[in-house]
Amino acid sequence: MSDASARPAGNWQGRRRQLQDAVERHMIRYIGDFPPFFVERAEGSYIYDDGGRRILDFTSGQMCATLGHNHPDVVAAISRSCERAIHLFSWVLAPEVVELCRELAALLPPQLQKVILLNTGSEANEAALRMAKLVTGGHEVVGLAASFHGLTGGAGAATYSVGRRGYGPAIPGSMAIPAPNAYRCPIRHCADACDLSCLEVGFELVDSQRSGQPAAAIAEPILSTGGVIVPPPGYFPRLKELCEARGMLLILDEAQTAFGRVGANFAFEQDGVVPDFLAVSKTLGGGVPLAAAVTSAAIEETCYERGFVHVTSHVSDPLPAAVGLAVLEVLRRECLAERALALGARLEAGLRDLHQRYEVIGDVRGRGLLWGVELVTDRQSRRPNPELGGRITGRCLELGLSMNIVSLPGLASVWRIAPPLTATSAQIDEGISILDQAIRECV
Ligand SMILES: Cc1ncc(COP(=O)(O)O)c(C=O)c1O
Repeated sequence: MSDASARPAGNWQGRRRQLQDAVERHMIRYIGDFPPFFVERAEGSYIYDDGGRRILDFTSGQMCATLGHNHPDVVAAISRSCERAIHLFSWVLAPEVVELCRELAALLPPQLQKVILLNTGSEANEAALRMAKLVTGGHEVVGLAASFHGLTGGAGAATYSVGRRGYGPAIPGSMAIPAPNAYRCPIRHCADACDLSCLEVGFELVDSQRSGQPAAAIAEPILSTGGVIVPPPGYFPRLKELCEARGMLLILDEAQTAFGRVGANFAFEQDGVVPDFLAVSKTLGGGVPLAAAVTSAAIEETCYERGFVHVTSHVSDPLPAAVGLAVLEVLRRECLAERALALGARLEAGLRDLHQRYEVIGDVRGRGLLWGVELVTDRQSRRPNPELGGRITGRCLELGLSMNIVSLPGLASVWRIAPPLTATSAQIDEGISILDQAIRECV
């Protein structure tokens, strides 16, 4: 138990047992087993469990709490919306919806000025994919192996990291190219520095497989769920060229990387490319479900002329839009992109120090405040080490640190480390120190 922990009054263990019983009876296990505790409250960089334990959150919730949990401005925006309007008929607009579209566009280059506000990352990708298909007249979609774009029909068909097998055929025309993983070159060509050969080979394979009309390529600027894979400089400009040569539109899925996480408003600004579609989600909503797909005026016009329909129950809802405006204001006021760079440098230094000291850490990579630490049995073989990763992650939790381990069977075992951008330097140090202790005790 951490110092800040205090056992709650009353029979909390009895209540926990009752809840565990209800979990067993009534809950669908959507990602394996649930943890053996319940969270009572979350604030800033910490969550607090029902046993009074304080846990430092190095996952930013499900990567959405970049402002920390329950940021006061987010709480205030929700509260104001409760007095104004929470939800409306999908066809009518509240001012905050229009204002958020305008604010988003103001952050983006002239090619990206038309916005649709939705709720989840999957939905934003679905909207972008549907518009790309409508405007090109094609249906073929290229994704990166190790990608994650959501699990709904269209987004799931372009997701190659998890959740693919056992659910029937993916949408026809779905194709994967190798992910530019410098630590584990997918075409056994590069060693520790990707020279883009995987991209060229990937498109040769795409060309040989294609049987219809191309529509789009979709990619994450950093392949997060797939093991925090950071494509090398020049990757995205070349991807865009390859797309343009085939009449494909480029969709960048910045669910995790937008709004400060990598030290800029958007990762594409660092990557030297402007996509045809930008999908943003998690980090726009400050913890509430808010997403957006953004494209050019010309693409929007063509879609409109062709009768584009993408109505959902919560499209253009005022409450999440009001929260999105608050998130952008906090991002600007608290200079969170700059903060991500400063905190990220501190986190990186701590992780590199652990890398120096522990043979089981094979690789450390990332950008801003999004880092991956790859666990191996030994540096020579680079064999993934999910068993050890699971044990250390469990020990971290006991010591008061929540860490996400991305384990792709046979492929990788990587911690995705992404504290809130509002974390303090002391909290970064606290996390590193707990991780150090947990590794020391487990190896
Ligand atoms: C890059 C990326 N895109 C899309 C999604 C799907 O978002 P959602 O779960 O909100 O549908 C995720 C979720 O983890 C993601 O990481």
